[in-house]
Amino acid sequence: MKFRAPGRVNLIGEHTDYNGGFVLPAAIHLSTIAEASARDDNKLVLHSANFSSTHEFDCDDQTPRGNWTDYPRGVYLQLRLSGVKLRGVDLSVTGEIPLGAGLSSSASVEVATAAALLHVAGETKDQKALALLCQRAENEFTGARCGIMDQFIAVHGAEGCAVLLDCETLAHQVVPVPAGLSLVIANTMVKHAIAGGEYNQRRAECENTALLMGVPSLRHATPALLAATEPHLTTAEFRRARHNISENARVLQFIDAARSNDLRTLGELMAASHASLRDDFEVSCAELDSMVEAAQDLPGFIGGRMTGGGFGGCTVNLVEETHAPEFTAKLHTAYERRTGIAPQIILTHASLGVHACLI
Ligand code: GLA
Repeated sequence: MKFRAPGRVNLIGEHTDYNGGFVLPAAIHLSTIAEASARDDNKLVLHSANFSSTHEFDCDDQTPRGNWTDYPRGVYLQLRLSGVKLRGVDLSVTGEIPLGAGLSSSASVEVATAAALLHVAGETKDQKALALLCQRAENEFTGARCGIMDQFIAVHGAEGCAVLLDCETLAHQVVPVPAGLSLVIANTMVKHAIAGGEYNQRRAECENTALLMGVPSLRHATPALLAATEPHLTTAEFRRARHNISENARVLQFIDAARSNDLRTLGELMAASHASLRDDFEVSCAELDSMVEAAQDLPGFIGGRMTGGGFGGCTVNLVEETHAPEFTAKLHTAYERRTGIAPQIILTHASLGVHACLI
């Protein structure tokens, strides 16, 4: 039996999840498929169709290898820790999400793996517990201190919709993407080497800033508190907090604007989010800024911003559906002209759900 878990694009609410804030991701049509069967020995045999490689491990081996196998192995070990009875397993993983592009290929591998392994063990888990287990696997086995957004949307995605998630309480609600709009995901094709370390560093900075501000997490920071504590913060700490305060407010404004079909406000909020990630959170890069700028005056453009962890990867654009094919083609040309890099543009007709094409 095969199990599928989707990638995601985040419409707004970036670097807020691990600070207990709000996010608004949408599952996309690109996914990872995992299939597993029991073995009668003590071996965990992992096969990736993408890397054309097979790796064999002792089931009790708990040493990460620093490659793709850490994602499924982390999940395998966390499942066992949670009491799921697993011994020897053959697991095969096939993915279509571009790797390292900020579209959450890791979480989709984790969630598809967890579903396949639970099937082998003949057990089930509720979706929230599954998402949290996969996040723990990534945090503890690969060392990436990611938040809960990616794993959560991989189990809670809904067609044609984004999901508003309160990362403190895990309360969530489905938010339809306004009718007549497409999501155009534009991959800059760059991934900066600093990304891994910088992500964990941002998280540590945020946690430290919350401590200095006397709040349990930046979710609870306010503009007044930030002004009062500014003398005790470094410039970087001040900016990280300011981004979280303004970004959380933007997510809630975005929901209101989406519900009232206020496209102009949606566009303004996305532009403000990008500027805040670039200037206050400092996770954009020249290529992401170029992709955002290249989209500005194209036909059908409503709004756009970087999406995901940053330092490369993708932008997300809200585009009038009728103009989406023209927008896609023109963005391709405009970005290539600016940077000399041929991008990958993924067009998703949100209102049609699964229709998509890759150029
Ligand atoms: C990565 C992480 C998420 C989230 C985003 C930034 O995708 O996996 O948990 O922190 O970056 O919003």
